[in-house]
Amino acid sequence: MKLLHIDSSALAANSVSRQLTAAIVARWQDTVPGLEVTYRDLDADPLPHLTNAVLVGGDAAAAQAGEAAMQQFLAADVIVVGVPRYNFGVPSTLKAWIDRIAVAGRTFKYTENGPIGLAGGKKVIVAEASGGEYAGTAIDFVAPYLKQVFGFLGITDVEFVRAERVAYSPQHKAEAIEAALASIPTPLRQAA
Ligand SMILES: Cc1cc2nc3c(=O)[nH]c(=O)nc-3n(C[C@H](O)[C@H](O)[C@H](O)COP(=O)(O)O)c2cc1C
Repeated sequence: MKLLHIDSSALAANSVSRQLTAAIVARWQDTVPGLEVTYRDLDADPLPHLTNAVLVGGDAAAAQAGEAAMQQFLAADVIVVGVPRYNFGVPSTLKAWIDRIAVAGRTFKYTENGPIGLAGGKKVIVAEASGGEYAGTAIDFVAPYLKQVFGFLGITDVEFVRAERVAYSPQHKAEAIEAALASIPTPLRQAA
C-alpha cells in the first residue's frame, strides 16, 4: 500500500497541520505493514502556478514537475493532506498542486452525461488547522471545496481531522490539537 503525505503550511515547525499529518502518517505506519510513504512539502518545494506557459507545455521544467506530482498522486492508495486555512481558503501552494492533479483525460473526463472521476478507489485524509471556527458554517470554503475537488476526481472517501480556534488562546490551541489527535481514525478499520 502506498501513502502520499502532503504538507502545505508555511509555519514550518510551528504548524498545527504538520503536527497532525505527522501523527496520522505515523498511525498508518504503525498499523499497515510495508506501507510505502512518499512525502511532498509544497511549502519547501512548491509547484509553479498554472500559467499559459505551463498549460500549453511551453515550460518544460514546470511540465516535468507537474507530471511528477501527477504520478505521485496516481500511485497513492492513501493521501494525507495538511491544510492550513489561509485567508478563508487553502494555501495557494496547495491550489497549485490541485491544478496539476485535476487534469482532463487523466483524473476526470467529461461525457454526454456529465463529468466522471477517473481516480477513484483512493482514500484522502485532510488535516485542517484554522485560527477561527468554520466547520459546518456557510463560510467554510476549505472542507466543502476539498470534498468537491476529490469527489470530482472520483474519490468519495474523504475524512477530515480538524483543529479549529487555534488562534483564540494558547489553551484553545493546545485543546484543539489534543482533540484533533484523539479524533484520528484507526487505519485498519478505515482501510478494511
Ligand atoms: C497568512 C495567514 C492567513 C490566515 N488566514 C486565516 C483565516 O482566514 N481564517 C482563520 O481562521 N485563520 C487564519 N489563519 C490562521 C491559521 O489558519 C492558523 O494559524 C492555522 O494553525 C494554520 O495552520 P498551520 O498551523 O498548519 O500553518 C491564517 C494564518 C496565516 C499565517
